[in-house]
Amino acid sequence: MTLKRRKKIVGNWKMNGSTVFARTLVSDLLEQLSPALTEQVCLCPPMPYLPMVAEALGQSGVSLGAQNVSSYNDGAYTGEVSATMLADIGCDHVIVGHSERRTLFAETDAIVVSKVAKALEQPGLTPILCVGETREEREAGQWQAVISRQMQAVLEGIDRAGVARIIVAYEPVWAIGTGLTATAEQAQEVHALIRQQVAALDSAIADSLLILYGGSLNDQNAKELLSQPDIDGGLVGGAALVAEKFARVCNTLAEVG
Ligand code: PGA
Repeated sequence: MTLKRRKKIVGNWKMNGSTVFARTLVSDLLEQLSPALTEQVCLCPPMPYLPMVAEALGQSGVSLGAQNVSSYNDGAYTGEVSATMLADIGCDHVIVGHSERRTLFAETDAIVVSKVAKALEQPGLTPILCVGETREEREAGQWQAVISRQMQAVLEGIDRAGVARIIVAYEPVWAIGTGLTATAEQAQEVHALIRQQVAALDSAIADSLLILYGGSLNDQNAKELLSQPDIDGGLVGGAALVAEKFARVCNTLAEVG
C-alpha cells in the first residue's frame, strides 16, 4: 500500500522584507489562505523577522522556518545563529543547503550535512534539504550524478532516524528566480530518482519522504507540478513575496490532494 503524503508549501522570502512588509504579508495571507490548509504551509522570513512573524501567525497553524542554521553549537561564532536558538524562538523548519548558500557562501556537501545534523538535534526542527543541478550540469548530462552526490552525502552522514525526519527540496539552479520552471516531466523524473535513492536505504522512509519542487513555482504552474506523483509540495521564492500569489499556490493543495 502506498502512503498518502501530506503535501506542503514553503515560502522562502530570501533577503527581502521589512517589519511593515512582514506584518502586512502575514495578515493578507491568513485572510486568503483556505483555513483547512494552514498546517500544510510554512513561512521562512529573514532571521530578524522570525519572532514577529511567529507572533503574527499566532495559532493559525502555519509553520515558521528559518533560511539557514549554523553548523556549530552556541558559543564564540560571531554572526551565527544556532539550531537551539531557532527552536527556542518557535521555528519548526529550517532550509539547509539552498543553492544560493552553496554557491555564494561556499557551503560544501560536508557543511550541509553538519547543518542538517545540528537541526536534527532539536526534536521539533525539520531540515528542508535543498539539492539541484546548475544549467551547465544539466546540459552536460550530469544532473543525476550531481543530485545523487548531494543526496548521498546526507544519506551517509545522517542516521536513519534522522533521514526519516528530513524534507528534501529539488531546486534546479537554472529555474530559481529565472521564470524557467522545470517541466512537470523533468521535475517528476528527478523526484522519482531521489525517492529511489532513499528507497535503497529504507523503503518505508522513501514512501513517506516529502520531496518539494522549487524554481519559479507560481500560481500559474503550481497545479500541474503539484499533481505529479512524486512532487509533494513546493519551495516558493518570488511568488511567496506576494500574498495573493502565494495564497493561490497554497490553495492549489485543495485541488491536488
Ligand atoms: P523562486 O525561488 O521561486 O524565486 O525561483 C525558489 C527558491 O530559491 O527557493
